[in-house]
Amino acid sequence: MQLEDIEIITVLGAGTMGHGIAEVAALAGYEVRLRDINEELVEDGYEQIAWSLDKLAEKDRISEETRDEAKESVTPVVDVESAVDEADIVIEAIVENMDIKQDVYEEVSEHAPEQTIFASNTSSLSISDLSEATDRPEQFCGMHFFNPPVRMDLIEVIRGDHTSDETMDVIEALAEDFDKSPVRVRKDVPGFIVNRILVPLMNEACWIVENGDATVAEVDSTTKYDLGLPMGAFELGDQVGIDVTYHVLEYMHEVLGEPYEPCPLLEEKVDNENLGQKTGKGFYDYE
Ligand code: CAA
Repeated sequence: MQLEDIEIITVLGAGTMGHGIAEVAALAGYEVRLRDINEELVEDGYEQIAWSLDKLAEKDRISEETRDEAKESVTPVVDVESAVDEADIVIEAIVENMDIKQDVYEEVSEHAPEQTIFASNTSSLSISDLSEATDRPEQFCGMHFFNPPVRMDLIEVIRGDHTSDETMDVIEALAEDFDKSPVRVRKDVPGFIVNRILVPLMNEACWIVENGDATVAEVDSTTKYDLGLPMGAFELGDQVGIDVTYHVLEYMHEVLGEPYEPCPLLEEKVDNENLGQKTGKGFYDYE
């Protein structure tokens, strides 16, 4: 497959990353199918896309015409078969759980055309293990976006053990066509490059608070104003989703060992469903 052959892109998962990725694909002129497990979730994802496009148009980042065309090119879908049966590319952005992702890949393999390439937006899981749940491991790679996808320039394109050169080339070209800067990640290691750095930073920020060494506000003002990050460590944790950070750390801890042990503060937030902006409460209140 070549970039020119791509017309229809299916995004699996309409959550924080899924709807953002669908929006990026729509803005690049593709026909997009946005799929989740029920009407409420896909409609909610679509509304988030509409909100974001309105905001971009309001701020003159895009024209009103581009906004309207992008809105029209996204179709919310629940049925898996009709979501993928014409897809050229399937980008998966569902929950960060190996078993659930593998089940979805088995199902999608049955309905997607033979030539369709699968790309996972996993934040940390093994691309090789995920690819083995499909009927086409060589047409599989990681395509890791950053939150919010419409504003973040970087995409990690990750090679698994079975990924073909052609797959890497097409997904890299697609990332460029999305007007993003792809970085090829040669080694399929937990957290790839960015999360291997960023997630331990968020974990360490939690340990500082857990141990009573500084407050959330002190850590955030230091990371934002002194260290020069665009957001404080806790602001970023709330934006990314505390559950996402926690699951990435659990996996890194399992595979890479001790230094990645998740801080209990993260576990407590996850247990209480205080996951950040998406639930209205995390390290900060948004209600
Ligand atoms: N669509 C449209 N508008 C959006 C938006 C979206 N998705 N998200 C935020 N905005 C809006 C805000 O509502 C705000 O609007 P108002 O001014 O009307 O309130 C506005 O954008 C803020 O944008 P600005 O350009 O004024 O602000 P900024 O210069 O601070 O940029 C930012 C915002 C680009 C998000 C910046 O803060 C930033 O780069 N933050 C760091 C984000 C980051 O590191 N992400 C990676 C996380 S790690 C990850 O995602 C990987 C993983 O697997 C865990």
